[in-house]
Formats: sequence, structure tokens, C-alpha cells
Amino acid sequence: MTISLQDPTLIKTQVYIDGVWVDADSGETLPVTNPANGEVLALVPRCAAAETRRMIEAAARAQSEWAKTTVKQRAILLRIWYNLMLEHQQDLATLLTAEQGKPLAEARGEVLYGASYVEWFSEESKRVYGDTIAQSSSDKRLVVIKQPVGVVACITPWNFPNAMLTRKIAPAIAAGCAVVCKPANATPLSAMAIVELAERAGFPPGLINIVTGHTAAIGAEMTSNPLVRKVTFTGSTPVGKQLIAECAQTVKRTSMELGGNAPFIVFDDADIDAAVQGAMASKYRNAGQTCVCSNRIIVQSKIFNEFTAKFIAAARQLKVGDGSQPGVTVGPLIDVSAANGVCEMIDDAVAKGAHVALGGGRSALGGSYVEPTILTDVSKDMRVFREEIFGPVAPIFRFDSEAEVIAMANDTEFGLAAYFYSRDIGRVWRVAEQLEFGIVGINESIISNEMAPFGGVKESGSGREGSKYGMDDYLDIKYLCMGGID
Ligand code: SIN
Repeated sequence: MTISLQDPTLIKTQVYIDGVWVDADSGETLPVTNPANGEVLALVPRCAAAETRRMIEAAARAQSEWAKTTVKQRAILLRIWYNLMLEHQQDLATLLTAEQGKPLAEARGEVLYGASYVEWFSEESKRVYGDTIAQSSSDKRLVVIKQPVGVVACITPWNFPNAMLTRKIAPAIAAGCAVVCKPANATPLSAMAIVELAERAGFPPGLINIVTGHTAAIGAEMTSNPLVRKVTFTGSTPVGKQLIAECAQTVKRTSMELGGNAPFIVFDDADIDAAVQGAMASKYRNAGQTCVCSNRIIVQSKIFNEFTAKFIAAARQLKVGDGSQPGVTVGPLIDVSAANGVCEMIDDAVAKGAHVALGGGRSALGGSYVEPTILTDVSKDMRVFREEIFGPVAPIFRFDSEAEVIAMANDTEFGLAAYFYSRDIGRVWRVAEQLEFGIVGINESIISNEMAPFGGVKESGSGREGSKYGMDDYLDIKYLCMGGID
């Protein structure tokens, strides 16, 4: 083990079932590797359906008691958990960089971002309201109450191993649910550390469980077990579709945060420097591995050359390397196969006539490092227009009219985030209303925070995380019809 933490007991290498840390029934393990150098950081249990089933059963028992707690009791425990996350920010960030690769400064930011969901939902737990409805006849009274959904399975990705989990667990717990969590096998250590902090915060056994191992077997148990009432997933659209299909058999509720293909539009009336800064932040954050990263930069003809020159100059300043090292701004991709996939997309664009204005492929560091790349002379038949790139590659497209760019932006099955830069107030409203996306950044590319609803339309998914809407995904509506009043 080569991760050096102030509190080494945050490194957990077992799964957490009903308040106890245990190995896989089979004793088998999976390696967790550092994408910066391929080094094995830890071995975690390779569990399957049986362990998952025990967790679900423990969660069902815990949930029936937890649902009886007052919202104030839930809020207090969530707040203690939040404080522990802040107290251990540096260690959580060190773990995150080691297994995920993002620069340490970004990892520290993610820990705060993840914790902010816990703080937010500790507060929101007190703001769950029902309704009274006008009576349909004089002897009846109609009332709506909200109740926890029950046991929730949370399946999370490797790109934000901390924040994607807290933004599912926190509203679930606040609403009175219990959870069984399956983090990505590539990055389980961050998730296990925050579950360890949940145990220290004092959540009862069984309320929060975490499993690692055989993804298909664990997923199948989660989607088929009737005790699980909801599955919440962040990840790719193909996997999301498969989970929805599996959940249909027992008619579970689902929340799906799936893929994106964000347009980043710069109109000729924009503040170009602000647009360049926005594009840099949105494209190269986490080496381009976020669902809301700008995928297609689309610039109006009149300012195309100026924007492109400034964007290239800014991207030249990026430093690729091991995220734990000072000054590094672009870490490795999650693994070599991800880097191969991104390089293949660059090659596809070049073969179809794209010009490489910066970078162009694998970094001299080799392995899973990809150079920050900018492509011009790009067209809609290239994979970089149609597919989610998930790497540090920025194709810059050109457009002439507002109608043309709206059609281009919406020409995708995805609908998560979109961005545009303009100082014309009329255009701002027109474009914002016509973009078919769940999130629209206007003269701003950092759009994620715990107070705002995160989620998409079309094949980017359903449901919202964070904000006052985020709690609804974990609550059932129950209508009470009281008769015999007269
Ligand atoms: C994601 O990539 O799925 C999440 C990004 C964010 O929360 O900003």
C-alpha cells in the first residue's frame, strides 16, 4: 500500500454489510490501481449476488426503523458526517487522486463538492411538505403525505467517486431511506472511506451498505430483488438503458444520470475572453472526463479565428502529469483502454480531414495520458460530433446563424448540459429556451452545485440530483382520503 494518509484507518479494503466490514464470501479480491503509474494500491473484495442480497435485507430492516426517526435526528447525523468529511478533506482528496487520477486541487474541490450535498440534504430533510386538497364532497378530506421510497440501490461511476455517491446517499438518508451502494470497481476506496466516516458519524448498522466486486451479478441482484424499491445510477447511457429494462420486471423507480454531448456555443457578441476561460474550465476539468464537459465547441464565423487562437494559447499552458504532483492540471485518463478510445476518436477526425491545432494523441508520458488536443476543420460526420469524448479533446466547429447553431446543438440523442456565451439579452432567452438540455450555462461553464438541479432530458436520463427537487426522487406520494367527516 503506497497511499500515505494522516488517518490510515480511512483506507478500507473490505465491504460493509449491516454495520460490519467483511471480505467476499469467496475470499476473492480485485486490484485497485493508480492510473498515473499502474501501481496496485489495494485489493478489495470481489463480491457477487449473495453478499448483495444480505446487504439489501439488512437495509430493509434498518430502513423500517430509520423511517420512524424525526427529520431532526436525521439532520443531526448528516451534519456530523458532513463535518467529518471536512475534517478529513486532505486524506479523502489524496485517496481520490491516487485511484482516480485527477489533480489534487480538483480532488480537494470534489471532496468539498461531495460534502456540500450532505450539508444541503441535512437542511432539506426539514423541508419535506405534503398538501391538503380541496374536498370533493362535504364528508371527505383529502391529504397528501410524502414517505420514503424504501431501500435504494446506488450505482456510481469512477469519474467523481466521492461526489456522485454523496449526492445519492444524502437525499436518500434524509428522506428516510436506506442504501446499498456499488461504487465503480476502479475507484472504490473513496467510497469506502466516506462510508467509514458515516459509521463514525453514528448511522445505525444496515442503513448504509457498500459492496465491490462482480458488477453484473451485483447489478442483477439490485435490479431484481423486490426489497429494492429504487435504483439510482450515474454512468453511461447503454448501461442506464440496461438497468431500466431490468428494473421494469419489478417496476422499480429509477433515477438515471447518463451520458452527455454538451455543445459550447460562442456567439459573435460574446465576451471572448470569458468564453475562452469558460471553455477551458468546462473542457479540461477532470481531463475531460465529466458528463457535462463541453464536447462540441461551436463558434460563430466572425470571431472563430480570434476565439480559436486564444483557446489554443490557454490550452498550451496546461500541464499533463501525475495528479499528485504540484502544478499538474491534467491528470491521466482512468485507464489505458480509455486513453486508446480517445486517441481513436482523434484519429477518426484526422482521417476525415480535421486539422490538429494542438496535441493530437497520446502524451509522451505514455500509458493513460492523453495530450490536451484541439481540432479544427471538423465536421458532423466525425465521431467527435456524435459521441461523448470523455477525454481532453476539443473539436471547434463553425456556424453562421442562430437557427443553424440551435439545430446543430440539438442534433444529438443526449440532453444533459449545454453552454452558450452571448451578451444579447433577447438571444439569451431565445437560445436558452430552445436548447433541449436539462442544464444550460449562460456566460458560465461551472454549473454544478448542491443547490441546483442536476440532470438531463432525452437519453441523458431522468430525475434530478441536488436542489429542492432532489429529495422528491426518494419520496413516494401517498394520498389519504378521509371520509365520514359530517
Ligand atoms: C458527472 O460527470 O456525472 C458529474 C459532473 C458534475 O457533477 O459536475
